Amino acid sequence: MSDHSPTSELDVTVPSVPAKTCKIRIGTNILTSLWAEIEAQFEHLAKFVVTDENLVSAGHLHDLLSSRDVPTFVISPPGETSKNIDTVTAIVEQMEKVYLGRDTVVVALGGGTVGDIAGFAAAIFKRGVPVVQIPTTTVAQADSAVGGKTGVDSSVSKNAFGAFWQPTAVYVDVATLKTLDDRQFRAGLVESVKHAVIADAGYFEFLDENLDAVLSRDCAVLEKLAYYNCQIKARVVEADPTEKNRRRMLNYGHTIGHAVESASGFELLHGEAVAIGMIAAGLIEIQLGLGDRARLSGIRNILERLHVPVSLPKGLDKERLIEIIKHDKKAINRWPKFVLIDKIANVYCQEGQWAVEVGQEVVEKVLDEL
Ligand SMILES: NC(=O)c1ccc[n+]([C@@H]2O[C@H](COP(=O)([O-])OP(=O)(O)OC[C@H]3O[C@@H](n4cnc5c(N)ncnc54)[C@H](O)[C@@H]3O)[C@@H](O)[C@H]2O)c1
Ligand SMILES: [Zn+2]
Repeated sequence: MSDHSPTSELDVTVPSVPAKTCKIRIGTNILTSLWAEIEAQFEHLAKFVVTDENLVSAGHLHDLLSSRDVPTFVISPPGETSKNIDTVTAIVEQMEKVYLGRDTVVVALGGGTVGDIAGFAAAIFKRGVPVVQIPTTTVAQADSAVGGKTGVDSSVSKNAFGAFWQPTAVYVDVATLKTLDDRQFRAGLVESVKHAVIADAGYFEFLDENLDAVLSRDCAVLEKLAYYNCQIKARVVEADPTEKNRRRMLNYGHTIGHAVESASGFELLHGEAVAIGMIAAGLIEIQLGLGDRARLSGIRNILERLHVPVSLPKGLDKERLIEIIKHDKKAINRWPKFVLIDKIANVYCQEGQWAVEVGQEVVEKVLDEL
């Protein structure tokens, strides 16, 4: 006889969420004709746009909507300071005030902050409505618009509120990058270098050969870059959407990168800190016999041409970095695992794990050299 009486326990089995396909379209100057396409694709849904002030002043919101009257939330001030739950509340309440319901699609036009905020608002509005991402920074076009991670920061930590909410469509217009600030543009390209290093030797060569064209914002080359990036990110996400294991490879350079970003008091942009983190990963690989100086020089050379830092800024305290690494959100027993490669386009996988153990003494040695 079971301990439970027949009326005290029930099993509830709900079907798992069916797979969903997200269309990614890449082009140049597609923004002006996009709205008709969105109207056609989401014919029966109301539309709500989320963007930020810089996208408005750069003319991109106008290019998207022309003179159409579509309810729009403009995030102000732009950037990370607005990536918080208050902005999400304001968006949700604005949507309610204009009588939007579950039959709504949210359209996010902007960089990673807009995409993360709007995606999260879409995920929780009336328990979830579809979101379309129109990324406009090198970070968003290579990384944040694809993969379904959405969320906002708390006063304690980054992305503390969050949900996996896959976009229904992603439209990449590389011409929008023309108005992006140079430092942002270059720093965001570090994620592209990361993709090449972990996943595609042909892409690494492409980057090396076409970096000048990328930096001069040649749209044909930027389209190819976007295609490589979206493809690499999409394949990894398809295999492991909720980051149980394989998706962790996208954190290459990020463990030390995050620590450097934080220790710099966010003076360094994320991509700049990740560049330093990638060099650190390369030095760890050398220490562990997984890599050599020649391979690291190839990577360093591309990063230097991007004019991103490749060594620790003066005054960054090593002890403090180690402390921050111990607080890494992925740490177990106060020490995180590291993503490493054993050759270009091959992430080192040990016993089926895509992030591996590296002793603190190895990391300390590497920080001395960095
Ligand atoms: N969801 C994910 O998987 C993922 C991945 C990487 C990063 N992120 C998040 O993305 C955010 C960073 O994204 P970001 O670097 O795009 O920052 P951002 O959205 O703050 O954009 C950077 C600046 O550029 C401006 N801007 C954007 N597009 C422009 C354009 N075309 N022309 C002129 N100005 C433009 C913005 O207004 C902002 O001031 C972080 O919050 C990070 O956590 C998320
Ligand atoms: Zn990153």
